[in-house]
Amino acid sequence: MVTFVYLFYKNTIKLKRRRKSLRILKLLVFVCAMVYGLYVYYKYLKHIQIEKKRELFEIQVIKTTHHNNAVYQSPIAHLHSPKPETFKKFTGNPVRFFVIVSMQRSGSGWFETLLNSHMNISSNGEIFGQKNRRQNLSSIIKTLDRVYNLELITSSSKNDCSTAIGFKWMLNQGLMEHYKEILDYFAKRGVSVIFFLRRNMLRRLVSILANLYDKDAKVLNGIHVSHVHSHEEALTLSRFKPMINVTSLELDLGKMESMAMKALGYFNSTRHIIVYYEDLIKNPYKLLQVEDFLKLPRMELSSRQVKIHKGPLSEHIKNWEDVNKTLSGTMYERFLKADY
Ligand SMILES: *[C@@H]1O[C@H](CO)[C@@H](O)[C@H](O)[C@H]1NC(C)=O
Ligand SMILES: *[C@@H]1O[C@H](CO)[C@@H](O)[C@H](O)[C@H]1NC(C)=O
Ligand SMILES: *[C@@H]1O[C@H](CO)[C@@H](O)[C@H](O)[C@H]1NC(C)=O
Ligand SMILES: *[C@@H]1O[C@H](CO)[C@@H](O)[C@H](O)[C@H]1NC(C)=O
Ligand SMILES: *[C@@H]1O[C@H](CO)[C@@H](O)[C@H](O)[C@H]1NC(C)=O
Repeated sequence: MVTFVYLFYKNTIKLKRRRKSLRILKLLVFVCAMVYGLYVYYKYLKHIQIEKKRELFEIQVIKTTHHNNAVYQSPIAHLHSPKPETFKKFTGNPVRFFVIVSMQRSGSGWFETLLNSHMNISSNGEIFGQKNRRQNLSSIIKTLDRVYNLELITSSSKNDCSTAIGFKWMLNQGLMEHYKEILDYFAKRGVSVIFFLRRNMLRRLVSILANLYDKDAKVLNGIHVSHVHSHEEALTLSRFKPMINVTSLELDLGKMESMAMKALGYFNSTRHIIVYYEDLIKNPYKLLQVEDFLKLPRMELSSRQVKIHKGPLSEHIKNWEDVNKTLSGTMYERFLKADY
């Protein structure tokens, strides 16, 4: 009898314990489900947010494209007659000012050589590549004055041309930090902005990584190059396949896109045109729009530069499968497919 009671008692405790652990387990499952639900919801919200931003951006681009040949027209066609100190062959023609706003490895070097093949365009290259010219706002303004007073002589500028004067400015070269003052400057001097951007930021990332690699490797005869003029050189450079960090990939692509969007927002009020690298590759007609934007006679433009990474992206990325897996189903999936 005593034994029986004892056994009964023991069994009850066991049962109680089991019930208790079952309850804890249920609670755990519930908490896990909650956390996962919240996570999915958070991801969804974030996705919606980014999509909204992108839509806004694309709507603006579409608007711009349909508005007067992709141009936001301001009522004034700015003409200037500077009296430069050092400009020798200056003819006294009216001058138009422009700036190419871009990001590294977006094809803007190619675009600039195309523009410079026009007899009435002189673009001075990436003048803010020199740090001392963008140390602070006053050095930036001083440099801008030198360009637009036709006092800056660079290797890319053309002395015998003075109809449209400009240069190439990368977003990370002081332009974003001092955008308010620069906006004022552009308005005051009537500088027209040509945004030259790349849609496929994954291809841009490949180009950045490959270029970074070549800085050390210098595969072309021990000389680091960023642009090439022959298919052989392009092929040699494109043999290197970068590894892409998939942990930070979505974030990195998002940062690149949002930087471009931010710049478009900042300089929205200036007279501007948006040119996408991808559009220009597919449709050379875009160049005519740029010539019209600069109010120059239409001319056929050419460049000796050759594209480095051609064909499908899968051939240019070492860990392609990981990249494909990481971006499949995300808003960046479209980057995987583009082939040009
Ligand atoms: C373009 O350049 C040519 C040659 O220098 C010149 O004759 C012509 O007037 C220029 N056109 C414009 C619109 O300035
Ligand atoms: C701005 O930078 C230049 C160097 O490019 C320097 O000489 C100058 O003193 C700086 N000015 C100010 C206000 O910091
Ligand atoms: C990849 O990115 C993550 C997050 O930014 C970083 O922690 C990690 O060190 C990176 N991996 C490599 C190999 O660079
Ligand atoms: C550009 O300006 C227009 C009108 O001023 C405004 O509606 C639009 O939201 C702006 N776009 C961006 C990206 O800021
Ligand atoms: C990417 O992965 C998907 C499967 O997730 C596959 O169907 C597709 O062919 C892959 N794309 C490329 C270009 O390898």
